[in-house]
Amino acid sequence: MPRIIAIVNRKGGSGKTVTAFNLAGALAEANLPVLVIDLDPQGSLTKGLDITPGNPTLSEVLIRGGEGFSDLIQVTHIPNLYIIPADGDLNGIETGLREVPGRELRLRRCLSKFMTRHFDYIILDCPPSLGSLTVNALVAASDAIIPVDCGSYGRDALGSTISTIDFTREEINFNLRVLGVLVCNVNSRTTYDQMAEASIRQQFGPLVFTASIPTSIRVDEAAEARKPVVFYDGRSSLADKYREFAREVIARCQGGT
Ligand SMILES: Nc1ncnc2c1ncn2[C@@H]1O[C@H](COP(=O)(O)OP(=O)(O)O)[C@@H](O)[C@H]1O
Ligand SMILES: [Mg+2]
Repeated sequence: MPRIIAIVNRKGGSGKTVTAFNLAGALAEANLPVLVIDLDPQGSLTKGLDITPGNPTLSEVLIRGGEGFSDLIQVTHIPNLYIIPADGDLNGIETGLREVPGRELRLRRCLSKFMTRHFDYIILDCPPSLGSLTVNALVAASDAIIPVDCGSYGRDALGSTISTIDFTREEINFNLRVLGVLVCNVNSRTTYDQMAEASIRQQFGPLVFTASIPTSIRVDEAAEARKPVVFYDGRSSLADKYREFAREVIARCQGGT
């Protein structure tokens, strides 16, 4: 069974897509087949991998109950990395415009019934809200990773994100756990960021991954080059940070600390 990891934070710009993209890259580089599912109607991850949605789209498949789900999987130019792209119609699902019974269970059903290919990891990139798509992700996931942007650290968003995870666990998905909090975009030259990181570590203790991701121009450069950092500049210290983070993810998934 693959680990299904939702990358979730209610706040936009907290590093969800950057984390999904670069974690997937580091796992793929380690020879672990990874599927990313882009659940954000904005489709940043999809565009970031230069993919266009096929026919049918993810939103059509979710609405009609999952038939054809495995046909949504597309190969990318990165070995071991596959994607189910987002499409603009996901907006309708997100806002509840398309009322469907049991709509919060849709993705879980698709993943359990229609997954034919074998992946070690499935990474769900969530939209910046706690709407229906994020709930679908949390209901389908085995684990959640919460990225927090150091520069614009939103305590409120973090609190409500964790409450939603707790609520989902208590009500629907007993197996869901927070795999960890990832401190992102840390500019260690500023006192503000140092204090923000220290405060997050104090609040969440061992839940916070040891690796944190520094602020680096390479994040945007790699995205522009359509490559995860480990493939864009594999020798950089940023690439090593993502490898370190990926190793922690693997260890935590295997029941380590
Ligand atoms: N480590 C980093 N260094 C520099 N910029 C970063 C870093 N992490 C994130 N960013 C910037 O923040 C932006 C928003 O991140 P993104 O992952 O798209 O947020 P979300 O998906 O949570 O809305 C990115 O496009 C990038 O420009
Ligand atoms: Mg995003």
